[in-house]
Amino acid sequence: MKTASASGKVILFGEHAVVYGRPALAVPLSEMRARAGVETREDGRVVVNARDLEREIEVVEGVHDPLATIVRVTLDKLGKRAGIEIAVDSDIPMASGFGSGAAISTAIVRAVAGFFEVELSRAEIAELVYETEKEYHGTPSGIDNSVIAYESAIRFVRRTASTSGDSMSGGGAEVTPFPIARPFHLVIANTGIASPTKITVGDVRRGWQENPARYDALFDTIRGIVQEAEDALASGENERLGDLMDRNQLALIELGVSSSEIEWLLDAGRSAGAGGGKLSGGGRGGNVIFYAPESKAAKMKEALLEAGAVSVIVTKVGGGVVED
Ligand code: PMV
Repeated sequence: MKTASASGKVILFGEHAVVYGRPALAVPLSEMRARAGVETREDGRVVVNARDLEREIEVVEGVHDPLATIVRVTLDKLGKRAGIEIAVDSDIPMASGFGSGAAISTAIVRAVAGFFEVELSRAEIAELVYETEKEYHGTPSGIDNSVIAYESAIRFVRRTASTSGDSMSGGGAEVTPFPIARPFHLVIANTGIASPTKITVGDVRRGWQENPARYDALFDTIRGIVQEAEDALASGENERLGDLMDRNQLALIELGVSSSEIEWLLDAGRSAGAGGGKLSGGGRGGNVIFYAPESKAAKMKEALLEAGAVSVIVTKVGGGVVED
């Protein structure tokens, strides 16, 4: 059996504005992973077996399912046909802003390419996974498939002249792995509320259509915050990150994608010593992230669980940049 895995991810700064051509920063979460294993099927069928979901999907013409799509586009890209069974499982919570769908798809592409002994570049993998992101999300920017396929901290910009927020090819993005001068700790609390990104992205779209000037100004504010965050990360001035997260969160509240549960957890984390925090991903649920001094992380974890988080992860962000 040929096996492969892919990490989860969090968006540090810039979600939603990224759909409208502004930059965003995201990092992989290597400790939570999706896995895929491929082996030959003698009956010639192509089957995806998602054990966690208790689903078995046969990849045949007319089946519309992201798991079938990723296998189909990967086989097309490789120019291969054979009976294969693809087993997938994942420890990444779904619809929580951790990129579970993109991670499962990335693991499948890596395992299928490995099975046929073809090497795909990270950009090629990101482009294939983008095809399924469209089925999960509607009009994804492409940031999830990129950060997971690159498995590196990335600055991401949709390369689009217009700010219509319409879907575009993942290959049209500008993906730049960026260095983090000094590693830092991130505390990530899951609200436990599954909130499909498609819905919040659609709501922001409607708001933008009704009042483009107001929304574009908010997206520009977020762009400025992302720029400051990049400078802080590059120069090791990590202490600035908390305040920048708080400012990004204010803009996300204005965009209408926060919720009382998110604000409740943000208050609990800040009271327990976080330098600052924000929602991460689509919003209205999913997870919140905090910039945390290491000495405060344990106390924060306890406080967040007490405040109702269903799980809390403390993770260290930073490390080398891998070049393609
Ligand atoms: O909910 P997530 O973690 O998949 O992130 C969505 C990020 C958005 O900017 C809201 C949408 C997108 O496609 O970039």
